Amino acid sequence: MRPSRRQIVALAAGLPLAMALPSAAWAQKKIVLGFSQVGAESEWRTANTESIKSAAKDAGIELKFSDAQQKQENQIKAIRAFIAQKVDVIAFSPVVETGWDNVLREAKAAKIPVVLTDRAVNTKDTSLYVTFMGSDFVEEGRKAGRWLVEKMKDQKGEVRIVELQGTVGSAPAIDRKKGFEEIIKADPKFKIVRSQTGDFTRAKGKEVMEAFLKAEGKNGINVLYAHNDDMAIGAIQAIEEAGLKPAKDITIISVDAVKGAFEAMMAGKLNVSVECSPLLGPQLMTAVKDIVAGKPVAKRIVTEEGIFPMETAAAEFPKRKY
Ligand code: AHR
Repeated sequence: MRPSRRQIVALAAGLPLAMALPSAAWAQKKIVLGFSQVGAESEWRTANTESIKSAAKDAGIELKFSDAQQKQENQIKAIRAFIAQKVDVIAFSPVVETGWDNVLREAKAAKIPVVLTDRAVNTKDTSLYVTFMGSDFVEEGRKAGRWLVEKMKDQKGEVRIVELQGTVGSAPAIDRKKGFEEIIKADPKFKIVRSQTGDFTRAKGKEVMEAFLKAEGKNGINVLYAHNDDMAIGAIQAIEEAGLKPAKDITIISVDAVKGAFEAMMAGKLNVSVECSPLLGPQLMTAVKDIVAGKPVAKRIVTEEGIFPMETAAAEFPKRKY
């Protein structure tokens, strides 16, 4: 019997053997997707997990979901387990950028296509994954920087900035720093006086902000740039406990635009949040179906996002989905 077009495409693309099933059997087979999530460190991540789980359900895709609790070793173990289980597609949001080549080569050898969601990996061999879908984190950093430059354009003296970085080695922490610095370096009045990781969590954001305030004194900080809303919300508590007014005594910029950030903006405690959408589930399921069907998928799928200053928060809040 001559192979069908679908079978030829699948085999040529090095896709799973399941793709070589006769069309009738193939049509009945449920696609199995193994997804390794970073963890549950932030409001953003919770919304992202929810989006992936509900989109899989809606798309009729069987989801094997694994939570890595922010540890790369757990993600590597999960990916190996998915390979052993012969899932059709593996997707994951890599906690850090480097150190993935070996496990991705194992997936490739097993002919299991890999999709990166939300965060990228740093590898020379881009054939190790089919597509990367998610935000442009450098651009998010630039948006934060541009907003600050505009806000402080008439300020004469030094602008002393403290930065709460995300997880060390993660794509959003590296890129949001890079984009922000790229913009503010045009004017030497902007100075990042302290920069430390708060690991994307509220608890750490508060702890590190307390240390910043202690080190710089009550009047030594003009701006807080937090790589996500959760850390900014933790830092707001520290600022209030130090007897200062957040968003007034210290200008606060953060990233994500989750509901918690809108509540803080409406309470007058956060100046602006740059949007980073966690609602990647539907896009991911479309890509998974396309890959399994042998259709071409773009190597990079960028999420479109905005920026929300506090003045827009009340009008926007009812429309927010996360
Ligand atoms: O990778 C996206 C980032 O991870 C979000 O900005 C942050 O809140 C999350 O934990």
